Amino acid sequence: MVDHRSRPGWVEVEDFLSETLVQGGPGMDAVVGSIDAAGMPRIEVAPTAGKLLMLLARIGGARRVLEIGTLAGFSTIWLARGMPSDGHLITCEFLPEHAAVARRNIDAAGYGPMVDIRVGAALDTLPTLLGGDPYDLVFIDADKGNNTEYLKWALKLTRPGSVVVMDNVVWEGTILDPGSDVDAAAIRAALEFMGASPELEATAIQTAGSKGWDGFAIAVVK
Ligand code: DHB
Ligand code: MG
Repeated sequence: MVDHRSRPGWVEVEDFLSETLVQGGPGMDAVVGSIDAAGMPRIEVAPTAGKLLMLLARIGGARRVLEIGTLAGFSTIWLARGMPSDGHLITCEFLPEHAAVARRNIDAAGYGPMVDIRVGAALDTLPTLLGGDPYDLVFIDADKGNNTEYLKWALKLTRPGSVVVMDNVVWEGTILDPGSDVDAAAIRAALEFMGASPELEATAIQTAGSKGWDGFAIAVVK
């Protein structure tokens, strides 16, 4: 497990950016509270990153969004906030107890009718989505070992112009030492897959803040 420590200043800057620009609102504080109350890990995206997801959905006019890794629904709600009210968001969660917390949070935030939670291993539920309309945006934020498989599913379930975002691509810098950690190796392999894929145009951005030293990759489907 990677140690997500933060250096002095990182969290203070993030707090300033959150307070100045994000203003998540009381509903979002309640979601974070539910994560603590349920004893779930505090590995939800930072509010600044959540709002980026909202903005990406809005900028891209996303009406159909696929999320892999729901946790308590924090990023799910941010994505839904960027979508029209007749949009549809499918989010995949491995653990039923996490899905139950997410369901309550998503319903309480008012996005219940837009959001469908698929419980179980995403590699089992993703194939059931084949044959539907393509997704406009895919957010991958689940078990890191399957990142490359999730990217392959994202390619099957999208169209040219769709956006793919993958969280946790720096992992405290351990991607430079993939022998140190199985997740680091998988994250690095997924980045190499993105860079080599003729179907993706990608970049990645490092982040430093309440989630330590990490980053996200963003790609458009060609
Ligand atoms: C972990 C997972 C995440 O998706 C994240 O953003 C941070 C940490 C983890 O499993 O440790
Ligand atoms: Mg993450």
